[in-house]
Order: sequence, then structure tokens, then C-alpha cells
Amino acid sequence: MSDKIQIQANGNGPGRKLKFNILRYNPQLAGDKPRMVTYEVEEAAGMTIFIALNEIREKQEPSLQFDFVCRAGICGSCGMVINGRPDLACRTLTAKFPSGEITLLPLPAFELIGDLSVNTGKFMRAMSERIGSWIHSSDADNRDLTILEERMDPDLADEIYELDRCVECGCCISACGTKRMRDEFLGAVGFMHVARFHMDSRDHRSDDDWYEVIGDDDGVFGCMTLLGCEDNCPKDLPHQTQIAFLRRSMVKVA
Ligand code: SF4
Ligand code: SF4
Ligand code: FES
Repeated sequence: MSDKIQIQANGNGPGRKLKFNILRYNPQLAGDKPRMVTYEVEEAAGMTIFIALNEIREKQEPSLQFDFVCRAGICGSCGMVINGRPDLACRTLTAKFPSGEITLLPLPAFELIGDLSVNTGKFMRAMSERIGSWIHSSDADNRDLTILEERMDPDLADEIYELDRCVECGCCISACGTKRMRDEFLGAVGFMHVARFHMDSRDHRSDDDWYEVIGDDDGVFGCMTLLGCEDNCPKDLPHQTQIAFLRRSMVKVA
């Protein structure tokens, strides 16, 4: 999937009636049960799933729950399953679906808040604490705020930036068969963060240190390499390359 919004020349256009089948369920409401509810929306030019959901909430169903912040594919809040695939609602055009029928489900593998809203924040925080998502330096000078920042090769900075584009949307976790079977599996977003800090010359953690974090079946050895993560990452991050790299590095330690 491209990082750019793709517009399909398929004859779809403004005025078309779209049918949204949306999972409704509020676990906080006593007695509420999961059910699919259908809403009709008139397609507008350049309409995204996010715009359509807003229209449904404004004009038809004020209690509909879904998340968004940036509307520009940056905050990672609007992940949901769109016609069977995890993706960002604000980056998905309704024109992508020639049938005009769109089914929306909350991302699996996360705690459900209600309807299409899930608690990715709780998961991402636990993941960050588990892998230590910050620079670990053995250099005591690093804590001296009066000295200049350590220099870095610009090419290395570019490589780190490439992996740092993760928006923590959770699509890779929802697309991961291993994560669905093994609750403690770190998942592709965690591996991407590990790869980012492993690459950073300011982080002094050794492969032995990393082995303690990802050297088991809940880490990189549990990955089945079916690449649901790579196929569904809205930011096109290089999961296959980085998972293979981490696995090779950890095999050397073992
Ligand atoms: S790696 Fe990709 S799919 Fe996974 S959380 Fe980051 S941006 Fe989302
Ligand atoms: S390749 Fe590994 S991390 Fe990615 S979806 Fe498959 S099992 Fe999960
Ligand atoms: S609303 Fe921020 S990524 Fe979609």
C-alpha cells in the first residue's frame, strides 16, 4: 500500500450512495451486545472513510465512537479494519471501493473502548517500556546538558529517520497471526522500534542486551514471517528487512 492517497479511476464519484456496515458495541453499557448497523452516506468528491464517519456521527448517529486527531496519516489514531484490512480511515478514500459497500470493524488485538475505538495507547506504552524506547547510553557525559550533542553521520540519521516514521497505529499488530495466538508476542511495531535503537550509534545496548528483550518466542523467534505487518503498514515500513536483520543478529548471540 502506498503512503500517498491513491485515487482509482473506476467511475466512482460524487452522488453515489455508499453503504457502511459498522460494528456497534459499547462494552461500558450494561446489556449492550455487538451488532452490525448499516448507514447510508452520499459520496462526495475526495471523501475519505474518516469524512464519511464524521458525517454519520453528525447527521445520523451521535453516539458513534471512533478516534482521530490529525486527519493526515500522522497521529495513528484512526486505525480500523476497512473491508477486511487494517488501515487508516483518514488516508482511505471511499472511491477505492467500487461496490460502494464498506464494512468497518475495530482493530483486533487491542482493548475495545467502543464501536471503532480501541486503546492502542495502553499497548504502545507497555511495548515502549518493555523494550526501553529511549537512548541507553553508557556515556556519563550524555547526562551533561552543557556539552554539545554527539555528532551523527547524516546517512545514518536518514536510516534512523526512515524507521522512525512509525505512527504507532497498530495496523501491523492487528494483521499479525502470531500476536492473535500469543498475547505476549512483541509484534512488528516493537521490532521496528528495536531496529531503530539498535541502529542508533548513541544507544550503547549490545546484542546480548537486546537478546534479553527479543531473543525468545515472544520476541523475534516467535515471528512466523508471513508478513501481514509489511502488507498492512500504512507507512510502508520495511518490516521484512528489519525482522530478518534482528533475527540474524539474535541467532549470533544464541
Ligand atoms: S509499524 Fe506501521 S503498521 Fe505498525 S504501528 Fe507503525 S506505522 Fe502502524
Ligand atoms: S511477519 Fe512476524 S511480526 Fe509480521 S505479521 Fe507475521 S508474525 Fe507478525
Ligand atoms: S487521524 Fe491521525 S492518522 Fe488518521
